[in-house]
Amino acid sequence: MKANVFRGKNQFGIEEVERPRAGPGEAVIRVTLTTICGTDLHIVRGEYPVDPGRIIGHEPVGVIEELGAGVTGYAVGDRVLVGAITPCGQCHACLSGHAAQCGHGAGYRAAGGWRLGNTIHGSQAEYLRIPYAQANLSKIPPELADEDVVLLADIASTGISGAEAGGVRIGDSVVVFAQGPIGLCATVGARLMGAALVIGVDGDETRLRFARKMGADVVIDYRQQDVLAEIKRLTGGGADVAIEALGIQETFENSLRSLRPGGTLSSLGVYSGKLELPYDAFAAGLGDHRVVTTLCPGGKERMRRLMELVRSKRIDLRPMLTHSYSLKDIGEAYSLFGDRREGVIKVAIRP
Ligand SMILES: NC(=O)c1ccc[n+]([C@@H]2O[C@H](COP(=O)([O-])OP(=O)(O)OC[C@H]3O[C@@H](n4cnc5c(N)ncnc54)[C@H](O)[C@@H]3O)[C@@H](O)[C@H]2O)c1
Ligand SMILES: [Zn+2]
Ligand SMILES: [Zn+2]
Repeated sequence: MKANVFRGKNQFGIEEVERPRAGPGEAVIRVTLTTICGTDLHIVRGEYPVDPGRIIGHEPVGVIEELGAGVTGYAVGDRVLVGAITPCGQCHACLSGHAAQCGHGAGYRAAGGWRLGNTIHGSQAEYLRIPYAQANLSKIPPELADEDVVLLADIASTGISGAEAGGVRIGDSVVVFAQGPIGLCATVGARLMGAALVIGVDGDETRLRFARKMGADVVIDYRQQDVLAEIKRLTGGGADVAIEALGIQETFENSLRSLRPGGTLSSLGVYSGKLELPYDAFAAGLGDHRVVTTLCPGGKERMRRLMELVRSKRIDLRPMLTHSYSLKDIGEAYSLFGDRREGVIKVAIRP
């Protein structure tokens, strides 16, 4: 089969590789649609370590091709969505409600539920082996197209969880720092949770326009406005919840500084190096602030719930799929997505 294989920093591309087979408890799907994540960019740029030879990608939609022993309730030919995170469903972490920190049989392992395109082969390929299939194959309702659900695997699950983990309450004011794919979905999530005011911050005009389209009431261009002063003015002293969706010191600190006392910083970004917490930004530790972090929730029940939101028309992420490529042209897709050309938000990749 054809697959996009990571070989080393800035070295990746389509290769002919062996097709996977399903072992006990596993399934193989024929991938019909996938996409590229910002995290895949970190991988190909050598900023997040994965083993050379790994097939990249963690956002699969497909059709069941093969079912391993012990997987029940599914048939070859079923259309399925699989989350970016594929928890085992059986370990301490999974059974304690922290499935993304799946402990691989015992205890907890930080980000241990992220396997596809990380510790095992991923979805930018014609076929994909799904581990712990019983916990991870989510059947797609017939009325939903692949394009309706592909963005639920990662960015919607992550972004919406930013609002859930932040405990957004009805009538809250919420500010979302960065309006990339993750931040846009956090904006969607804040609306879903009942926020009365959602403020989107970015410095890219296309993305600020998108932020309005996805539900931001107000957008702030951080290059042109004093972001913190504007947030204080709009919220009457500080936001109830700030969602960080970029992963740098500046946005983390601004998130904290934009909160009212007692507010919650819900962090989604992936950080590198050192992250500092200036004492004055959180009232020297006396301001009742909360800081929470979340890895994309996965597993079949999460995917089912997200698909229900699409089916009931509470959310529509299709406009975020701005470009489309065949798998063989994935190199061009990486280039466009990586350089954020032509107003790209997400690219559809069809094997
Ligand atoms: N927690 C998780 O489970 C999870 C899952 C997927 C991705 N991520 C991480 O989420 C982060 C965002 O991903 P993405 O794909 O949306 O990123 P992206 O790079 O596509 O978007 C980032 C956005 O940030 C904007 N920006 C840059 N500097 C800014 C500033 N100072 N203030 C405000 N906005 C600024 C850019 O204009 C851009 O629109 C990354 O760190 C990614 O690795 C986390
Ligand atoms: Zn991702
Ligand atoms: Zn587990």
